[in-house]
Amino acid sequence: ALITMRQLLDHAAEHNYGVPAFNINNMEQGQAIMEAASEVDAPVIMQVSRGARGYATDIMLAKMVEALARIYPNIPLCMHQDHGNNEATCMTAISHGFTSVMMDGSLEADGKTPASYEYNATITERVSRMAHWVGASVEGELGVLGSLETGESAAEDGHGAQGRLSHDMLLTDPDQAAAFVAHTKVDALAIACGTSHGAYKFSRKPTGDILAMDVIEAIHARLPDTHLVMHGSSSVPQELQDIINQFGGEMPQTYGVPVEEIERGIRHGVRKVNIDTDCRMAMTGQFRKIAMEDPSEFDPRKFLKPARDAMQDLCRDRFERFGTAGRA
Ligand code: G3H
Ligand code: 13P
Ligand code: ZN
Repeated sequence: ALITMRQLLDHAAEHNYGVPAFNINNMEQGQAIMEAASEVDAPVIMQVSRGARGYATDIMLAKMVEALARIYPNIPLCMHQDHGNNEATCMTAISHGFTSVMMDGSLEADGKTPASYEYNATITERVSRMAHWVGASVEGELGVLGSLETGESAAEDGHGAQGRLSHDMLLTDPDQAAAFVAHTKVDALAIACGTSHGAYKFSRKPTGDILAMDVIEAIHARLPDTHLVMHGSSSVPQELQDIINQFGGEMPQTYGVPVEEIERGIRHGVRKVNIDTDCRMAMTGQFRKIAMEDPSEFDPRKFLKPARDAMQDLCRDRFERFGTAGRA
């Protein structure tokens, strides 16, 4: 059954667990998430980026989610807009049946330029008011996602804003977070702590200077009742890098957010954990493997099924480690 993010994260806070929010673009990713959830009895947040809406169309995505909710009637399912960039994106998502939206006002509507606090607070409050009128939940973001190693921001196209961003912009300030939540009345707050989108987050296994989990602890101490969201939370597992590279890929060595750091976040108010890259890598490893091991294969299902199975394994592991398993 479809539920809102607020309902789910309130339950998660009450019982001290986190919920992975996996991105979907197609049927196989939706199936992988729901099958994993059903194996371990976990509630689900499925999220859709603006890119995914462009790729699959709103009608296709809405019908797919409706189908998944029917196929898995016992799994609570929250359908969420990832990184909404303005009022229209958020409201059209709700009109297609999404139960939750992110208004990401940390960047301007171009999805690149770091925005002022005033811009962010104003547009997020407006979306929050509109969404709440119709019973949908809202996630806001304060602080710009980006690397503390390079100062590069995490723009959607991976190219980032011009120039280096200061640590001030890349780390959410707890006092400002308190003011932001009070003004916007968001149901969940995405924070910046040194993570970024995509596979290339850290050039080494992250330590406290480049992955600032202490910032999360400070925000949680200041705002104990606010559900926190970690973006850029793929772990970029070594074994997935290895499979891709073993079968002809050329991904340079990279490091993601270790699962134990996410577990630490969950002990300090993190309730929603965004993961896309790991799912992509799990699938791509299998595409490469089949293509190399059986060059005569031409049935897409022979590629898509192992890819779907690999993503399902990844999703099940995160449900188990975040404490989501058994909470449906
Ligand atoms: O926000 C980042 C997610 O990984 C979605 O990526 O915009 O390429 O669909 P996308
Ligand atoms: P990853 O690129 O680390 O999977 O992050 C996804 C994300 O934050 C989606 O909003
Ligand atoms: Zn994100």
